[in-house]
Amino acid sequence: MRWRKSSRLEKLPPYLFTEIEKIITQKRKERKDLISFGVGDPDVPPPKFILEALAREALNPKNHNYSFSQGEEEFKRAVAEWYKKRFSVDLNPETEVAALIGSKEGLANISRAFLNPGEKVLVPDPAYPVYLNGATLLNDNIPVFMPLLEENNFLPKLNELSMENVKMMFLNYPNNPTGAVISKEKLEEIVEFAKENNLIICYDNAYSELTFDGYEAPSILQINDAKDYAVEFHSCSKTFSMTGDRIGFAVGNAELIDGLIKVKSQIDSGPQLYIQKAAIKALESYTSNQPPSYIKERNMIYKERRDYLVKELKSMGLKCDKPKGTFYVWTKCFEDSMSFVKKLLEVDVVATPGVGFGKYGEGYVRFALTIPLDKIKEACERIRKIL
Ligand SMILES: Cc1ncc(COP(=O)(O)O)c(C=O)c1O
Repeated sequence: MRWRKSSRLEKLPPYLFTEIEKIITQKRKERKDLISFGVGDPDVPPPKFILEALAREALNPKNHNYSFSQGEEEFKRAVAEWYKKRFSVDLNPETEVAALIGSKEGLANISRAFLNPGEKVLVPDPAYPVYLNGATLLNDNIPVFMPLLEENNFLPKLNELSMENVKMMFLNYPNNPTGAVISKEKLEEIVEFAKENNLIICYDNAYSELTFDGYEAPSILQINDAKDYAVEFHSCSKTFSMTGDRIGFAVGNAELIDGLIKVKSQIDSGPQLYIQKAAIKALESYTSNQPPSYIKERNMIYKERRDYLVKELKSMGLKCDKPKGTFYVWTKCFEDSMSFVKKLLEVDVVATPGVGFGKYGEGYVRFALTIPLDKIKEACERIRKIL
């Protein structure tokens, strides 16, 4: 190799999935009929009116110029109006909203705006890996892991955390990968904790619209004084099935939004104008705090899949609950997660080993409900043969 990777990149933990990916690649070459619960990418498409808006806006040549890094005024206004309708939260679109090229980049960039190398950041474990990698890989911060344990309903135990030199906290509910949800009371406790420790809260609410059984996901900004400490990250990816369009937003404390925009303005421009304009139509489809019918219908599809898979997995001796949010079924497999996933691969079923989300994910496996019910049924028949 001619060039050594930067020391930051060399700090990346060894890639755990190499062996599993090799097996999957080989099976694909052999044209095996793989059934994959691997990726959390919605298979239910965006509704037609969003696709039509995208097509219409993409045909307008003016929508192919640069957009502002922080997002267009009309997009930020639409986000503020959506927050008002959905969460009864007031936001100033000029100072308290930023457009993101998907929420992932915002989550990865925020630590660079507020943390110096060597400062500490609270990261849930297991978790969506971007919190950890954004802070440690891109910004040389030191992680303090918050174990999310089943016995605590996958919520962090705040009084057990060592807080010296900790400046920022990441949190995500409805939670990937565990499917856990949070109450307003727990969010109040978290805001109180932020006050005591002068902590920046980065709250990832990417799955707020993917909920079941009457559960309504709160925004942390609904909690008194939260706006003094919190920035909330949102995404059109799961809400409107627009993963590939790359559009999200950050809202909340004006100082935090300003810092995030300053970082972003050095490295990117805003999301494509035609995407922002289609996203405005999507956000405007909410007319009250209740989701529009197409979202309710979409959630019913995931719910039916969830109910079926959970029932089947339990009947095979595995342990899982029906998640009230997200489209992930977090399943206790009673062995190490890599071995279990390799066993599933023997019958051409793909799932994600829990250890890939952190040390406390060991012993679990994540099934994403992003495949049709008939495929889930077939997968269950296959899994039953090996358990
Ligand atoms: C918890 C969580 N947050 C954020 C994201 C990123 O979403 P996007 O960058 O598509 O907005 C994901 C994607 O899977 C996720 O699971």
